[in-house]
Order: sequence, then C-alpha cells, then structure tokens
Amino acid sequence: MYMRKILILFCLTFAFTAAQAQQPRFGEPASKEDIDKRFFSVFPDGEFLPDGQGTPAEGAVLFEEQCELCHGTPGEKGIADVLFGGHGTIGTPQSLATIGSYWPYPTTVFNYIRRAMPYVAPMSLTNSEYYSITAYLLHENGIIGENDVINKDTLPKMEMPNKDGFVNAYPEVPDDYKTKFDE
Ligand code: HEC
Repeated sequence: MYMRKILILFCLTFAFTAAQAQQPRFGEPASKEDIDKRFFSVFPDGEFLPDGQGTPAEGAVLFEEQCELCHGTPGEKGIADVLFGGHGTIGTPQSLATIGSYWPYPTTVFNYIRRAMPYVAPMSLTNSEYYSITAYLLHENGIIGENDVINKDTLPKMEMPNKDGFVNAYPEVPDDYKTKFDE
C-alpha cells in the first residue's frame, strides 16, 4: 500500500515536470513601448535627449522642493554631495569635485539626475522638469545665463569648465591595426 502511494506520487511529479518542460514560460514579447520605457540613456553628445525644455527659474523652484533637503543650497552644504562651486580646484589639494567643476558633459548631468534623482523617487519628474533642474544647476555653477533655455538642441552645446580635464581611455583604433594582425 505504502509503495503504491509513493509510486503514484512519483508518477504525478514526473508528469507535472514533463508538462512544464513542454511549455516554456518565455512571457510576452516586449513591445516597442516597453523597450522605449526602459531605454532612456542619453549619450554625452546629446543623442537620445528627449523633447521638452526648461529654464533656471523653473528649476530653482523644483530644486527647493525636490533636492535641497539633501544637497543644500549654493551657499550651504547639505548631507549629500555638494553640487555647486569648486571651480578651478580640481588637481589642487583643496579639490572640490562637483558637477560644475568636474563633470565634462552637460548632457550627463541631465542623464544622471533623470535616472537617479530624487534619491527616493528616481524618474518621477517630467523631462521638462529634469531640463529645468539641469538648467538651474548649470546656471548656479556659472555655466549658463539666467534666461537660457535648455532643450535637446541647446544642452549639448553648453560647455563645461572641465571638458578638457579627461583623457580618452579608448583612443581611436589606428588604420593599420587590422593589417598588422592579418599579417
Ligand atoms: C534623500 C536625499 C537626496 C535627495 C532628495 C536628492 N539627492 Fe541627489 N544624491 C543623494 C545621494 C546620497 C547622492 C550620492 C549617490 C551615489 O553616489 O550613489 C546623490 C548624488 C547626486 C548627484 C551626483 C553628485 C556628484 O557629484 O557625483 C547629483 C547631480 C544629484 N544627486 C542631484 C540631485 C537632484 C537634482 C535632486 C532633486 C531632483 C536630488 N539630487 C535629490 C541624495 C539625494
């Protein structure tokens, strides 16, 4: 009797496993919308910047509501990274690396804050709100004027003070590279 129960259990388990094996559970194919929602990286040259726009004045209001609690103001340090000032200090003993003094591309500021900030609710603002906050940060770092408008055309053209402070770790492949290895 006991053996029969074990046998039945064995057969059921086998049948169940075999049935599962016949139906691979791949899920739904991802739609273009699904993919677009997840692919939101902006490249340093501005490729894939979204529509929308913002100004420093609009950004100031948002920064106070969404960011100041942790990052402080241009005059007062907060509990998280300092985002203002430090210009000309990179490479000196008083080095203060901020997005203004250290980061080489304005597009990366937009990309980073959109994907990672506010810390507790990344991607929770609209693209125009992220443009505005970027505009505010660049303005407070002396990089753009107070009436400058930031969008996908203007942002890549804004020059960061430390744009030449990095070396290219991946230099262009020399023309004769391939021939050398073919020989
Ligand atoms: C709850 C606290 C908090 C809030 C609110 C917050 N941040 Fe941050 N932020 C952080 C922390 C912590 C880090 C460091 C994260 C890390 O290194 O992984 C950071 C990093 C950053 C950096 C990178 C600094 C650098 O020099 O590397 C930027 C830029 C930034 N935040 C912008 C913002 C903006 C803009 C907002 C508002 C939309 C915001 N943060 C809201 C906590 C916060």
